[in-house]
Amino acid sequence: MAKKLIDSPEKLADEVLSSPKYRRMKLPRETVMNIIHQLQEDGWKGSDLDRQVRLKLHHLTAPYLGDLQEEVDYSGFGKNEPLAAYQPLCSALLAQHTSTRERLQLLETFYARLFEITGKPGKILDLACGLNPFSLPWMPGAETIEYHAYDIIEPRLTQIERFFTHTGLKGTVHLQDILLQAPGESADAVFLFKEIHRMEDRKKGSVRGLLEALQAPWLLVSLPTRNLTGSRNLLDLHRRLIASILSGLSWPVTEVLFSNEVVFVIRK
Ligand SMILES: C[S@@+](CC[C@H](N)C(=O)[O-])C[C@H]1O[C@@H](n2cnc3c(N)ncnc32)[C@H](O)[C@@H]1O
Repeated sequence: MAKKLIDSPEKLADEVLSSPKYRRMKLPRETVMNIIHQLQEDGWKGSDLDRQVRLKLHHLTAPYLGDLQEEVDYSGFGKNEPLAAYQPLCSALLAQHTSTRERLQLLETFYARLFEITGKPGKILDLACGLNPFSLPWMPGAETIEYHAYDIIEPRLTQIERFFTHTGLKGTVHLQDILLQAPGESADAVFLFKEIHRMEDRKKGSVRGLLEALQAPWLLVSLPTRNLTGSRNLLDLHRRLIASILSGLSWPVTEVLFSNEVVFVIRK
């Protein structure tokens, strides 16, 4: 039977959000509506619009990068467990998503090297966080840091919130499309790791607007230095991307290069 053509953006959003693929993710409705409106502005209609919306969402949520397989079991952990005791469990969790799996081998020095430049932040926003909050057991002084995690995939945030509760970390989670609504709260540092290239694909110029809106003296923006298969070096391409996003702004940038990720430490 031919698929019924959906004639309104609202109905198309309903259909996509209730589809088996996206039902579980519980994406913000405004994200899907924004993508539909943008594609309509670009002239897409009917079944082509439907196809393009699903393609864009697939790219945005990147299911091919992996996700948490199941509910995390904390039964083996006591009440006052030191944070470092969570490292083996968190290694297994971080390994389930490509971005954080690639970062696992860097974690012993990752935050220490960044905080050499920024000083130890008291409050951090981790934007488009994915599974990165599970790297907190490697962060120097994490026990006293306030940590606020933002993403658009609800089950991930639920798991991160459970982690904060079990470890006693001072953290909150926010289901928020940061390109549609930049976080309003101020912080000492903002992490925006390995996502701005996809954000610029979603809407060219969107990352500059976001960085300008953020209220923090340090913006730590990272990008991978190789493509997913490891066959292509992306360092120069990504240096040019950052330079073009920041062009005309007088914000000093210090580049911290790791084996598979480059962090641009921006003093705003
Ligand atoms: C490639 S992962 C990167 C995760 C993490 N930053 C890291 O480097 O490990 C991208 C994450 O960004 C989230 N994301 C993408 N666009 C977003 C947006 N506009 N607002 C909030 N989260 C977003 C996705 O849901 C996904 O969890």
